[in-house]
Formats: sequence, structure tokens, C-alpha cells
Amino acid sequence: MQSIELSMHQASGDVSVEEALRKRRSVREYSRKPLRLGEVSQLLWAGQGLTDPRGLRTAPSAGALYPLELYVAIRNVERVPSGVYWYNPLEHKLIRTVQGDVRDELTAAALWQAWIGEGAIVIAFGAVYQRTTVKYGERGIRYVHIEVGHAAQNVFL
Ligand SMILES: Cc1cc2nc3c(=O)[nH]c(=O)nc-3n(C[C@H](O)[C@H](O)[C@H](O)COP(=O)(O)O)c2cc1C
Repeated sequence: MQSIELSMHQASGDVSVEEALRKRRSVREYSRKPLRLGEVSQLLWAGQGLTDPRGLRTAPSAGALYPLELYVAIRNVERVPSGVYWYNPLEHKLIRTVQGDVRDELTAAALWQAWIGEGAIVIAFGAVYQRTTVKYGERGIRYVHIEVGHAAQNVFL
């Protein structure tokens, strides 16, 4: 099992939220340049990183139960072997769960949209529904889906 420590996230940036909102667009053609591990670290932190010693995170969560589990499929990141890695937000590190290039599986899972396999990374949002349904019952399923939207938007911005 390979584990990779991630660098500290950047605490501030040069782009305002308003500018990020105005400029955001879905794109389906990507640079071939490898990403740096620090860039991957920043994206995962934005999605689900810790922001408070009590364990609270960048994205809201019903009952602070945090059902989401982020995985990143790495294909073109400097000095990181291809594979699928689980993001551990408490320790801000990656744990490899699958070795090798999974772009064919990802493309198939996205109904054969070729660009899914062409990016340097793909971030997948998994969830343990029971963490939320144990408190909220069936409506917890909807809460989990809402939370994916919150967290994914943080990554995009
Ligand atoms: C829930 C959801 C699912 C989407 N699925 C796909 C998809 O499978 N393939 C794709 O190319 N774009 C997908 N999109 C992106 C939309 O096509 C895109 O947001 C829309 O065309 C508006 O363009 P914009 O994001 O650049 O503003 C999806 C967007 C959402 C919110």
C-alpha cells in the first residue's frame, strides 16, 4: 500500500470568488502537461479538507457526519505512479487502492465519453450513505447527493 503525504494547501489565491464564478466553464479538452502533486493536493483539500480543529471541513455536511470519500485516479502527475488513491482528509494524504491506469474503466463508467480518460486526473466522489441515513433515515440519501454538489463545486472553483 503506497501512501503519499500531501503538501499544505495554499491558504489564499489571486482569483476572487466572483471572478472564478464568472469564468467557470465545462471543458472537454485538456493540456497534456503533467499536474504537480501540489495542485492535486489543493483540489482535494478544496473538496473535503479540514478547516477547523473540531474536524469541520471545506464543504458543509448534514449533521457534520461527512459521508463523502474522495478518490483520485492519477494518470499524469509528476513523480506519482498511475493508480487510484483514496484521499484521507484527517491526515491530508493519499493512500493507493488500485495500481495502474484505469482510464478505460472510467470512460466506460461515464457512458464512453472519451475525454474522461484524457485528463491528468479524475476525482471520483464516493459516499458511505449509512453515515447520514443512520440519523436522517431515507432523506439522508438526498442529503448525501446535495453534499456531493457542494464538495464538487469547491473543487471546480
Ligand atoms: C449533474 C451534471 C451532469 C453532467 N454530466 C455531463 C456529462 O456526462 N458529460 C459532459 O460532457 N458534461 C456534463 N455536464 C456538464 C454540462 O453539460 C454543462 O454544465 C452545461 O453544458 C453548461 O455548460 P457550463 O458548465 O460550461 O456552464 C454535467 C453537468 C451536471 C450538473
